[in-house]
Amino acid sequence: MKKIAVFTSGGDSPGMNACIRAVVRTGIFHGLEVYGIYHGYEGMIEGDIKRMYSHSVSNIVQRGGTILKSARSAEFRTPEGRKKAYENLKALGIEGLVAIGGDGTFTGAKVFYEEYGIPTVGCPGTIDNDIYGTDYTIGFDTAVNTALEAIDKIRDTAAAHDRIFFVEVMGRDAGFIAVESGIGGGAEFVMVPETKTDLDQVVKSLKNLRKTKTSSIIVVAEGDDLGSAEEIMKMVKEKIKDPNKEFKVTTLGHIQRGGKPTARDRVLASRCGMAAVEGLIQGKTNCMAGVMKMEVVYTPFGDCIGQPKPLIPDHLKLIDILSI
Ligand code: F6P
Repeated sequence: MKKIAVFTSGGDSPGMNACIRAVVRTGIFHGLEVYGIYHGYEGMIEGDIKRMYSHSVSNIVQRGGTILKSARSAEFRTPEGRKKAYENLKALGIEGLVAIGGDGTFTGAKVFYEEYGIPTVGCPGTIDNDIYGTDYTIGFDTAVNTALEAIDKIRDTAAAHDRIFFVEVMGRDAGFIAVESGIGGGAEFVMVPETKTDLDQVVKSLKNLRKTKTSSIIVVAEGDDLGSAEEIMKMVKEKIKDPNKEFKVTTLGHIQRGGKPTARDRVLASRCGMAAVEGLIQGKTNCMAGVMKMEVVYTPFGDCIGQPKPLIPDHLKLIDILSI
């Protein structure tokens, strides 16, 4: 293998740049030519591909976002789009790919590998942490800390005014950010897509809590089965029927996707990037390089996207016990 290319795809996450840097420098260390593909699969189709050098990735380890840009490509889902992408890679002599992204990225990479056989290793880049085959994904730790900082601030004003706050965090299909920021922020409740939310139970507990606490924080993952934080707040307000109680909603949104990556995310990203390149050199393909129990592990794309990653049961128990 002489030439490899790296790209980022799907929702960006803090630490993607640290991962790109590790891929480029590990590739160069092992004597490879490294290329960067811009705008994910879109750039592969458009031929937006440039050679990268060690200096191309200087001064980015600490930056959020992705210098290679990211996109979700509808055209890559078509056989015609993938054919164009293959022809562009073939013309440049690219023999291996590193795909940094989440389940959508790996779904595309798996199909592409099966059709055209260009060896591909992935790195788990998503704030959602919903990828099987790695304990944590690149960007998750930063997103949790961003949410936590906001929750701490909301807690101050919630307490000052004796209010009940619903804080919506990201997580369309997964509650990892909600659970960890909820534990760290001392939330009274956490609502996640993985478990059924019992509204009557929430209302009952809130009424009980109000005998000892005057303010509460409820962290809601955006994909909760009952709806958005705004919708849930309205339902709870309706059931509590207390004109003296004030209910507020804060949606944190995309601030969770940006910002400087934490040390943990930079280290994880660097390890995954190095492992992806060394995996390609060793002949690995159609799999993701992740870190489980401190060790690098390679998991087939099929398992990364096909296997659900459950929340840690102890984390859910912690929220129940510590909120009384
Ligand atoms: O996949 C990460 C994620 O942040 C989800 O939690 C969220 O629902 C989604 O991306 C939003 O994506 P976009 O901003 O690209 O619409």
